[in-house]
Amino acid sequence: MTLQTPNIRSVVVGVGSCLPERKVSNADLAAMVDTSDEWIVQRTGIRTRHIAGPGETTSTLATRAAERAIAAAGLQPSDIDLIVLATSTPDYTFPAAATQVQAALGITHGVAFDLQAVCSGFVFAVSTADKFLTSGSHKRALVIGAETFSRILDWEDRTTCVLFGDGAGAIVLEARGDDSGRGVLASRLRSDGRHRAKLYVDGGPSTTQTVGHLRMSGREVFKHAVGMVTDVMTDVFNDTGTSAADLDWFVPHQANERIIDASADKLGIPLSKIIKTVSMHGNTSAASIPLALATGVADGRIKPGQLVMIEAMGGGFTWGSALIRW
Ligand code: UT7
Repeated sequence: MTLQTPNIRSVVVGVGSCLPERKVSNADLAAMVDTSDEWIVQRTGIRTRHIAGPGETTSTLATRAAERAIAAAGLQPSDIDLIVLATSTPDYTFPAAATQVQAALGITHGVAFDLQAVCSGFVFAVSTADKFLTSGSHKRALVIGAETFSRILDWEDRTTCVLFGDGAGAIVLEARGDDSGRGVLASRLRSDGRHRAKLYVDGGPSTTQTVGHLRMSGREVFKHAVGMVTDVMTDVFNDTGTSAADLDWFVPHQANERIIDASADKLGIPLSKIIKTVSMHGNTSAASIPLALATGVADGRIKPGQLVMIEAMGGGFTWGSALIRW
């Protein structure tokens, strides 16, 4: 459980995102594997996704999203003293993509590191950065979710290659001592490694010495997803004395529209309060929530003072939620 001291809160002061230039439609995929637009839309809600091209990597997308978030906050890169980058698809095994973003932004102070919790990565990164900021050790954090899952997909496996996309999103969190009530109010993180075989990558430096490909028993993941994310959302509601009725926006991980709708339905969150980008972006893993947040802020739906719930579930399994007074 995470309940911050009332005197310091991590307040969202800027949001940014970056998508690769190339858009790939379901029809494009149907020309490559035995699938159809109808199957993909019915089962997932996905219509298009962006796929990174040559020169576009996790750190270049992350850097662009970060620059936009810093600009939206009216800050300079030198104002940032903490970068937490959630990714499962770093440019290299090491160093951390976060340090490449740090260098690209010209930041030479503070600390930058990657965090790996697959699709839950952004929620884990928000919770982690919040703990740094509320402890008083750091002042302004860039929290980034950035992925190039296209580089770990088996493009001959129709059960996975139609589901994912690439992209990056970032928020700037600032430690504030005001009593506006804004900020990260609570977060809950969970994991259970017994579920490894349901969603994993079949390669790695210490096993195959290759990058490997994503493997998923989609039906098995689906079976656990709704229960897991609604459990941690309920925990966060209980931690903060709030309920689903208090939410202004529900910004879930964008893996599958059916999982999103079933989770909202279970907690009584109306469809009109859900920010959905899965149809445009596909599942971008750790990038999906900040991409959705950036979409909701850019189109004027998410406004300061509103109550926003984020949640995700993914490989590990990992799962988590965070409640933010925007
Ligand atoms: O982000 C991290 C967590 N990941 C997720 O949340 C993903 C969770 N899982 C899902 O979203 C869904 O399980 C999928 C979208 C992956 C699959 O939907 P489903 O309703 O669970 O379908 P299924 O796996 O049960 O497959 C149904 C049928 C199968 O054929 P049979 O065995 O019934 O004859 C598949 O072979 O659909 C077939 N199929 C396809 N058909 C056309 C699987 N992939 C495709 C495809 N195009 N791309």
